[in-house]
Amino acid sequence: MRTQVAIIGSGPAGLLLGQLLTNAGIDNIILDRVSKDYILGRVRAGVLEEGMVDMLDRAGAGERMHREGLPHDGFSLAFDGRDHRIDLFGLTGRRVMVYGQTELTHDLMDKREASGGSSVYEATNVMPHDFDGAGPYVTYEKDGVTHRIDCDFIAGCDGYHGVSRKSVPESALRTYERIYPFGWLGILAEVPPVSHELIYANHPRGFALCSMRSHTRSRYYIQCALDEKIEDWSDDRFYDELRRRLPAEHAENMVTGPSFEKSIAPLRSFVAEPMRFGKLFLVGDAAHIVPPTGAKGLNLAASDVYYLFDGLLGYYADKSLAGIDAYSERALKRVWRAVRFSWSMTTMLHRFPDTGEFGQKIQETELDYLVSSKAASTALAENYVGLPY
Ligand code: FAD
Ligand code: DHB
Repeated sequence: MRTQVAIIGSGPAGLLLGQLLTNAGIDNIILDRVSKDYILGRVRAGVLEEGMVDMLDRAGAGERMHREGLPHDGFSLAFDGRDHRIDLFGLTGRRVMVYGQTELTHDLMDKREASGGSSVYEATNVMPHDFDGAGPYVTYEKDGVTHRIDCDFIAGCDGYHGVSRKSVPESALRTYERIYPFGWLGILAEVPPVSHELIYANHPRGFALCSMRSHTRSRYYIQCALDEKIEDWSDDRFYDELRRRLPAEHAENMVTGPSFEKSIAPLRSFVAEPMRFGKLFLVGDAAHIVPPTGAKGLNLAASDVYYLFDGLLGYYADKSLAGIDAYSERALKRVWRAVRFSWSMTTMLHRFPDTGEFGQKIQETELDYLVSSKAASTALAENYVGLPY
């Protein structure tokens, strides 16, 4: 088999890149080790920057998002028993779109199928080869048969645990990492959100986030210890703890109902540099992870795809290597800005083992400054809606 770009991973990064390439007439094949249904069963991000919205439109997969997604002009920071609105639109002229990663992935899969794109799911032992030489190729197994795809380039869109980054010699890679001493316990429930906008809450008992997927579906998170067990968290216990961490007006108004998804996610910051090794590119979570505070993970995958697609388009349309050569540097510049922002939101809003009463006061003072200074609010808002590509 031969293709122009072999894409490893059918998450948002791989699907978005694949669709942009297909639309531009550049042949590509997507390989994923799990099934379509498994991918669509994962509940992950929910807030899209305008850059991501534009990319979905460019891919021709934005129609349902514009119909069903919820544009948000602001969000709240809650601390010290009070709620403070950050007016994203007033401060930046931009807004965000609340639309689940699951839905976005569904739309991109549907679009790929409609445009005849080729995807292989449940491909095992996927392996990139010879990306430092002239003839890169990818091998995989399907139903006990080994296949080989020769290609011009390999896009490693296979997430943090994927094979692409692991195939690069350790000596060629520099990694940076911070592991946070807590996780997020999240639930999805068919109940109306407690507020029409998101609430990020700092509380002495720990962080809480009230998000949503629609006017009737809520996504709630609370900071938890890393060794917490899901089985120990009944819905009632979860809602009780969430209510304790919110200002009274929200706690009193919260509608509760059975959750249909409940999971714990660890928090980490991670960056691998560079993001290109010869003809192999790392894209999205394969190259970097951010803690979810600030909703940057999925959005970074979109900006990586923007830069890589630009490079590949320049190569196929004009035989130019300039965009490909610039990929890693352009992507990493934006990645580090989001890594910094996610780290600072995480640090400001969570309870750390050494936070104590002093640390709590410092956090509240920082938050108070943030919501009362236009300059500080604008800096927060401009990062939250997403820095330009
Ligand atoms: P992924 O979505 O991870 O896709 C990678 C794909 O590669 C997967 O389909 C996987 O099956 C496939 N793959 C992996 N290994 C191989 C292999 N060896 N061979 C073939 N295929 C392979 N971000 C936010 O902004 N907000 C959130 O609330 C949020 N919550 C999250 C919760 C969890 C549990 C996780 C893991 C992430 C969360 N994120 C969140 C981050 C966000 O979901 C990711 O940044 C986003 O999914 C990145 O997309 P991606 O396409 O790069 O990687
Ligand atoms: C969601 C997740 C986030 O990390 C965030 O900052 C906002 C919303 C969500 O899943 O809805």
